[in-house]
Amino acid sequence: MEGDPLSALCTPALVVDLKKVKKNAHEMIERCQKLGVQLRPHMKTHKTLECADIMTGGSRRCIVVSTLAEATFYADHGYDDILYAYSIPFDKVEKCASLSERLDLFQVLLDHPDALEQLKKRPLRDGRQWNVWLKLDCGNGRAGVLHSDDGALRLAKAMAEARGVELKGVYAHCGNTYGCRGVTEIQEVAQETTRLTLQFMEKLKLAGITCKSSIGSTPSCSHPVKDMEKLSEVHPGNYVFYDVQQSTIGSCTLKDVAVKVLTRIIGHSPHRNQFLVDCGWSALSLDGAGKLPTGYAVIEGHPNLKLLSMTQEHGRVEPISGQLDYDKYPLGTLLTLIPYHACATAAMHPIYHVHSEGSLVGGWTPTRGW
Ligand SMILES: Cc1ncc(COP(=O)(O)O)c(C=O)c1O
Repeated sequence: MEGDPLSALCTPALVVDLKKVKKNAHEMIERCQKLGVQLRPHMKTHKTLECADIMTGGSRRCIVVSTLAEATFYADHGYDDILYAYSIPFDKVEKCASLSERLDLFQVLLDHPDALEQLKKRPLRDGRQWNVWLKLDCGNGRAGVLHSDDGALRLAKAMAEARGVELKGVYAHCGNTYGCRGVTEIQEVAQETTRLTLQFMEKLKLAGITCKSSIGSTPSCSHPVKDMEKLSEVHPGNYVFYDVQQSTIGSCTLKDVAVKVLTRIIGHSPHRNQFLVDCGWSALSLDGAGKLPTGYAVIEGHPNLKLLSMTQEHGRVEPISGQLDYDKYPLGTLLTLIPYHACATAAMHPIYHVHSEGSLVGGWTPTRGW
């Protein structure tokens, strides 16, 4: 109930610190304004209306989504200028067509000539054009045409020339910043992604094609390099919550993390020098593979404790060194876990409990599915 302390919640529970969310969102907006680049925040981390409103400053415009479920959810709530930044799956062309015919600006992304053919086979009604971005791989090594591949330029030209299709932009996600440690390394990857993207934009210009450019990730946009001002847009998402992974990379400090999982001690195992908590992988996820010195999460205020392993509904906790003093950890004790990867942890929860300085202020319900 509103006004209750966090300790009133049944556990496990995902709790969101509203002030930190607002601060993280505001700082990214300011950073982008200073850089003179359009922020197009990604919604995949939280998938809620309330958090989207904070990230867009209430404009309800200019967002990225990773699923059609998100796209439809936001469209249903008055959002527009939505970029579905996922190489368009052929089974979803019809749904994308409906969104394109319904919104002022629904945008899709592709990285293969066959995908362009699929769009051409489904012309949009009322003289509308498919608004399409080209996905470029500038070193991330996931989706996208390789920036140096002749096929990238060929595909861009084909997109620009295709009837019923408008080439809106070039999208390069620098997820390779997740392998960085510290600001210098982050900025090296940000610089290289920016350089390669701008180099590709020059090639397009020489071919008589102009469109937008976008790069991003939470690490690169938390510590942008000056050349990013030459881009049209950036597209980070995780920054609104941050997490232990981001603090390890150097995007933020642990104090900035806005999302935690509350759990309670539910069992003592002195024969193993462990206790059990009611947070298993169904409330935290297995992301991070337990590789932190403190295991699967950081247990706030208890630096000597390690979340060693989890089954679906149980977690095993042991001391990093020494013997557990069970008198300090009676059954029912509430512990706070700082998640390794906020996107993965949030995805496990049907509701986020929102608080301001420890007092509950409401609940956010995310959309789910694909
Ligand atoms: C295509 C794409 N764009 C943007 C983002 C947002 O990046 P981040 O999660 O680092 O904020 C992601 C995240 O994985 C992504 O996959």
